[in-house]
Order: sequence, then structure tokens, then C-alpha cells
Amino acid sequence: MTNTLRNFSTSSAKLHDAAIVGLHADGQLLVPRSIAANGKDSLTTILKAAGAKGKAGESRVFYGDFGLGSEVQKVAVVGLGKQGTSAAAKDRVRAAVATGVKALKAQEAKDIGIAGMGHDQAAAEGASLGLYNFNYFKSGKKGAAEDIKISALDLESPDEIQAFKNGLIQAQAQNLARILMETPANHMTPTLFAERFLKEVEALGLEGNKLKVNVRDQAWAEEHKMGAFLSVSRGSDEPLKFLEIQYEGGKAGDRPLALVGKGVTFDTGGISIKPSANMAAMKGDMGGAATVAAAVWGIAALNLPINLVAGIPLCENMPSGRATKPGDVVTSMSGKTIEVDNTDAEGRLILADALTFISKTYKPHTLIDLATLTGAMDVALGGAYAGVFSTSSSLWSELDAAGEEAHEAFWRMPLHSVYLPQITTNTVADLINTGGRSAGSCTAAIFLREFVHGVERDDGFAQAEDEPSTEVGTLLETTGDLKAGSVRYAHIDIAGVMDTTSNAGYNAKGMTGRPARALIEFAKKFSSQ
Ligand code: BES
Ligand code: MN
Ligand code: ZN
Repeated sequence: MTNTLRNFSTSSAKLHDAAIVGLHADGQLLVPRSIAANGKDSLTTILKAAGAKGKAGESRVFYGDFGLGSEVQKVAVVGLGKQGTSAAAKDRVRAAVATGVKALKAQEAKDIGIAGMGHDQAAAEGASLGLYNFNYFKSGKKGAAEDIKISALDLESPDEIQAFKNGLIQAQAQNLARILMETPANHMTPTLFAERFLKEVEALGLEGNKLKVNVRDQAWAEEHKMGAFLSVSRGSDEPLKFLEIQYEGGKAGDRPLALVGKGVTFDTGGISIKPSANMAAMKGDMGGAATVAAAVWGIAALNLPINLVAGIPLCENMPSGRATKPGDVVTSMSGKTIEVDNTDAEGRLILADALTFISKTYKPHTLIDLATLTGAMDVALGGAYAGVFSTSSSLWSELDAAGEEAHEAFWRMPLHSVYLPQITTNTVADLINTGGRSAGSCTAAIFLREFVHGVERDDGFAQAEDEPSTEVGTLLETTGDLKAGSVRYAHIDIAGVMDTTSNAGYNAKGMTGRPARALIEFAKKFSSQ
């Protein structure tokens, strides 16, 4: 498999064999300034004859150069709907350009120039997301790195050029997440995931300098007493991995932003085995890992001035003679004991140790985990929103804004101690890994919060800075809001947005790679605060 970065250029001096221009609903045609005088007129005439209305979703291909350059043979005119500066208007550009590149690709275009649409980042995102496909396992076809060039026509200022580049990078990041998730589990084991990630970041040329990636193994997890993580992996013959990643783009010593991603490269359910219908989708149960890896890649590629750490626990959840059994009790890195009532609630087990490790080791100011955690999340919100469970309203607002900007929407869900009794009573251990059918996503979220060192709590309690409690009852009282040593925490359940059946706009049927772009957008805003 090849690197996902496409050839791109921001100069309009090159010759293109195809072009995309935009049409607003008010009739305004968006063409490059360099267009020959009669070109725009003939396009306008032909569009009138074709009855083009500039409605969002509309796309027509015309043959000829229309004054756009002597090599141009095909011009896609894409409808942008109402003009505007809103996130919705940006998303119409994103979708329209994607529709345009899909139409031109079907007509065998090889080098597509895109007219400025007023939203250069969104246009670049649409182009790169729209060209994504997953043909790696079809003999005789090339994969996502198919040789179609995209470039911007008519970029004026350095800001515009940067915006177009940003868009390409963010879309490439999402495409990377899509590929990692879509790749079948026999080709995306924990070992292969780690290797692929290393290859992608090596291509950025930052390793060892700003970016440090440590691939940890089972012996390391044992040293760190990660009994919960180890209990999930033990049923599998594939060795576990833990990616420990540090990106230092900010001031030395500044507390980092931390990301943690669930990386179950295949989830059979273990001894509590899943039914066979749709089980193949569980190759995507490393969606948290994929989106975190993609965000790190994108943040590093953009050279953002922030400090970032990421922890990615990777393993398979398999049944075998060595597998964890329902009723088994394991001891997590935090010291808390967990009764494994259902081996299919494995995500929270691997995340528990990853959250403890990252929060204790790095003392981040903000800690976000992403996980395809519960089927109940899909029941609640479907593919429209990813659920955000956060201790912090400021963090929620920042995520909400980033989600809107990237059109990868979030919806706030409750993270509240009211759900604790469901996972602390009726167990022989400190915690049990299932809270019953009722509020399944909320009990999963509150389970995770128990493992974040220094987290703010809604119930007025916080864990000691240096002495994590070994049982749920031993909590220190605290007052006030964000105090030194505390961390803003959010858990994002992406089970519902993991895959899509849509091919419309920049969607591609299959694994979505959501919300890789929103995470980068979040980090960007964050770095400019
Ligand atoms: N990976 C699944 C959740 C999932 C289901 C993600 C469907 C995407 C689509 C997770 O490990 C799981 O099996 N969760 C259980 C938890 C239950 C046993 C408490 C679930 O949701 O049924
Ligand atoms: Mn499971
Ligand atoms: Zn799972």
C-alpha cells in the first residue's frame, strides 16, 4: 500500500485536462480570473440551455476548454446553492467539489484544476475526500493513491494557498483513517497497524525531532500492570501493541493535549461471542485508534504549535482456551479491580489502562478518548452525531465548534455519577464492566472516567494528584472549577458514525474515518487560543 498523500499543486500555471467551476443558486458562475474572455460567455450560454440552477448536489460535465486552458477537455459545473460564509455553506462547497471530481474521474480525467469557490480549505477537502476509494484488494486495480492530480486554479494570497494545503492535509488524514479502518483485520493486526502508522509519519520526515513514536509490547504492558488491557488481548495469538506518541510543536514543558483511541483490530466479542450477522464490521473496531493516529499525522503535517500526546492500545478480542471468561476479575493499572461480566465489553477495559497511563504519565490539560464503544450509541444517535461525554462545558463547546466547522457533528451526552451504581453494585470487584441495558453508552462513559487521573468530577470529588484511589470509595473532596492538576476529560463514542451506506458528496460507502478532521480542527483552534 502506498502513502495516501496525493500530488497537488497550488499554481495555476500548469496544464490541466479537466476543471471544476462552481455555480451559485443566484446565477453567479465562479471561474478563475485567467479564463479567456469568451470562455465565460459560452459556459453561461450552455448552462442556460442545460437548465442548470446552481442547486446544491447538481453536477454537469461539458466538453471543451471554455477558455480555461488549451489542454482542458472537460469541465464539471457543480451547484453550490446559496452563497454564504456559514459552516453549512462551506460544506456545500466540500460536497460539490467531491461530486465534481467523482464525475470527472468517471470520465477518465487525470489532472483536475479547481476554480476558487470562496472556501479554499473546504474545496481541497472535497477534492481529496471525493477521490478516495478502496481498491487495494481488487486484482488489477490501484488503491486510493490512483494517479489523479488535483490543484487549485487562481489562488491569490499566501493565506488562500495555506487554506488549500490545510484542506488537503485534513482530508488526507481522514482518508488515512478510512484506510486503516476499512483494511480487513488479517491485514490490520496490532503489529501491522503500528508498522503502517510508522511508515506514514516517517514520510513526514519529523520522526525523532518533533515527533516520537514508541511501539510498546506485551512485556511493557505487564511492567505497567495493565491487567485490564492484557485480559482482552490474552485470547488472541496476535501480540498486542501500545503506541505511545509524543508531538512537541509547542513550548517545552507546556502541559499537552492528550488523545487516546480504542484499537481493537477485530472484536469477536471473545467468549461472550457476537452473532455472525454483521460481525465483519468489527474490523472497524479500531476506529478510535485510526482517527487518533490520523489526527496526530495531520497535526504533525500541519506543524501545529501545540504539545500533543497520544496513547493507542491495540489488540484483538478473540475466544480461545486462554481467553478471559465471564466472571473473571482483573486488576487494572490504576489498582482498581474489574469483574469482566461480558467479554464483549472489551473497549472500556483496554481504554481504562490507556487512560490511567496517559493521564498519570503526561498530566495533560485536556484528555479526549475516541472509541467505537457501544452499540447503544448507534441506537441513540445513528450516523448523524458522535456522542460526547465530558466533564467540562468549555471542552464541550470547543469540540462542538470544531465538529460544526468540519461537518462532523457532535452531540453532548451525560457523563454523570448518577450512572455509577450500575457498575459498582452487584459485583465482587470494585467495578463491573457492564451496566445492563439501560443507558448502555452512559454507563460505559462513567466507567472510563474512573480511570482518568486528576479528572474533574460532577459530584464534587476528585482523585488525589499523586495517590490514585484503589477503590471507588476513596476519593478526595475538592471545590471549585478547574484546579491545578485537574484535567478536562471527554469520551467520544463513535460507534454510530463508524460506517456509512452513502456515496453522496464526499461520502464513501464503508468506514468513515470520522471525526479525524474535527479533531484536527479542534487542535487548530486550540493552538490559536
Ligand atoms: N465494538 C463494540 C461496539 C460496537 C457495536 C461498535 C456496533 C460499532 C458497532 C463493543 O465492544 C461492544 O461489543 N459493546 C457491547 C457492550 C455490552 C456488552 C455492554 C455492546 O454495545 O453491545
Ligand atoms: Mn465488544
Ligand atoms: Zn469492541
